[in-house]
Amino acid sequence: MRKKIVAGNWKMNLDYAAGISVFSEIVNMVKDEKNGSQDVVICAPFIHLNSLSKLGGETVKIGAQNCHQNESGAFTGEISAGMIKSVGCEYVLIGHSERRQYFAETDALLAEKTVIALKNNLIPIFCIGETLDERNNGSYFEVIKSQLENGLFSLDAESFSKIIVAYEPVWAIGTGLTASSDQAQEVHAFIRKEISEKYSMAIADATSILYGGSCNPKNADELFAQKDIDGGLIGGASLKSRDFMDIIKAFNS
Ligand code: 13P
Repeated sequence: MRKKIVAGNWKMNLDYAAGISVFSEIVNMVKDEKNGSQDVVICAPFIHLNSLSKLGGETVKIGAQNCHQNESGAFTGEISAGMIKSVGCEYVLIGHSERRQYFAETDALLAEKTVIALKNNLIPIFCIGETLDERNNGSYFEVIKSQLENGLFSLDAESFSKIIVAYEPVWAIGTGLTASSDQAQEVHAFIRKEISEKYSMAIADATSILYGGSCNPKNADELFAQKDIDGGLIGGASLKSRDFMDIIKAFNS
């Protein structure tokens, strides 16, 4: 059985006090949710990681939103995977489309970040997804395939089996335009097929593939009902504890 995960990505939102407050609400609600079978993760800005990992305990796990590709050194302003691990994080987002778009992160760089994250025992949540143009001109399968091949498929099978993949169509991020459950399922099934051809059916079956992009309490039910969707990566709705909790509950309904 592959792991079901609902992860929030706070992006560059919530100052220290606001982060503690929203996170504490989430922890209390997750504790009260009797039917929870999924892992709940919050990927927060760096300033929050140390405090949240202590507050979250086993109830809500913590992830960073990025790490540097080197172990340490003269990289002013950067944060290493080892530092992230040292404050109790278990996860790190790698290759979010905003990193690809605004920070020019290439597949080759993301492959290096993935290796260093794994070496430091962090679980990479590796993000892939096509732009609106790529969706409209029908090249989205090629785009996804190339992101997988160049970002992830140089890993050996043992390393790959630790990866979580997140499919986030860029046109659905923060736009209110969600992929329909059919569109999302189609791409998730394609990703699983690519993994199975590269590695094995067993590894593909065990890989959690999350959907992200304007996921909200209203559409979560239908998305999570798809057989290849193993959870969500939630942006805006993870900033409001009630909405985030309703998305988590959609899993158990
Ligand atoms: P929204 O849920 O705000 O569309 O963001 C999705 C996302 O980018 C999560 O990583």
